[in-house]
Amino acid sequence: MKENSKKFETAAVFFLVFLLWFAAVAVDAYAAENKTVELGKKVYEQRCVICHGPKGDGKGLVGIVHRYQKRGAVQTIFPRDFTTGVFRFRTTATGCLPTNDDLLRVVTGGIPRAYMPSHEDVPLDERKAVAEYIKTFSKRWKEEEACKPFIVKAPRFVGTAESAEKGKKLYKEMKCWECHGEHGKGDGPKSDRIKDDWGDPILAFDFTTGALKLGFAPENVYTAYTTGLDGSGMPSYEDSMNEEERWHLVSYTLILMGRTKK
Ligand code: HEC
Ligand code: HEC
Repeated sequence: MKENSKKFETAAVFFLVFLLWFAAVAVDAYAAENKTVELGKKVYEQRCVICHGPKGDGKGLVGIVHRYQKRGAVQTIFPRDFTTGVFRFRTTATGCLPTNDDLLRVVTGGIPRAYMPSHEDVPLDERKAVAEYIKTFSKRWKEEEACKPFIVKAPRFVGTAESAEKGKKLYKEMKCWECHGEHGKGDGPKSDRIKDDWGDPILAFDFTTGALKLGFAPENVYTAYTTGLDGSGMPSYEDSMNEEERWHLVSYTLILMGRTKK
């Protein structure tokens, strides 16, 4: 009997020590996370708040960043509203949250054609912290895990004439032209009627001018076709085309973008 209660005592002591250790680790982790978010908030207030707004709803002082005339249409590009948790530039499937790397890439490089500046001058730990901070604006980040990113490498046939020819057919069949126009000038019949998820008019990308928001590398273009640019009206083609077809489309559209020889 005595023997048993001694065993019990030892076990209880061990358990208590474990509990204390566990609590210390948890408190530590919590404090570290808080510290990152605090640092992120500081960076946000210095560098992002002017556009994305104090509440992260895209209503900063620079409410309308970009307004330009095109074929009579006025397009306004608003800074992203982070409260909805919808992200355009991802390497994850449509409907998914972006990865930390996706956020970091945008924060670091900025976004061409959208007046979102590059933040290369901000130290890496501060860029990571601000990416953590913008997650506090939507509860999606608490409820969902980020999906697995696509890891892509362009197959050899990308850029060949044969592949581009197949891509050209797909461009017709998949009705890309309805928005982007027959020659990729962004002047398709639907191009003036597209609205983004926030109800603002958005123009289909004109392939012949400007830079791609995700980048010009074949892998980036492939990513745009696979993931779609959520919230913008540019759909994902992951389900409606197989991988090879999406790569053929890359071959063809890179020609329209003036990136490869005809
Ligand atoms: C001059 C205004 C401006 C500043 C400053 C700015 N942004 Fe942006 N940001 C934008 C605009 C405009 C967009 C939307 C671009 C688009 O949809 O094409 C955007 C989009 C983004 C996105 C992309 C979200 C997505 O859909 O994938 C992220 C992330 C982001 N901003 C983070 C930041 C952070 C963090 C900072 C500060 C370090 C910052 N931005 C500073 C204007 C700005
Ligand atoms: C319903 C209209 C619509 C259709 C259909 C459509 N797109 Fe788009 N696409 C858009 C809009 C709008 C944007 C601009 C999004 C932005 O600026 O954030 C865009 C952007 C793009 C971009 C630029 C990506 C980047 O990184 O900036 C490419 C390339 C593209 N589309 C190719 C295609 C191809 C190829 C197809 C057919 C398989 C297609 N799109 C079908 C509306 C459409």
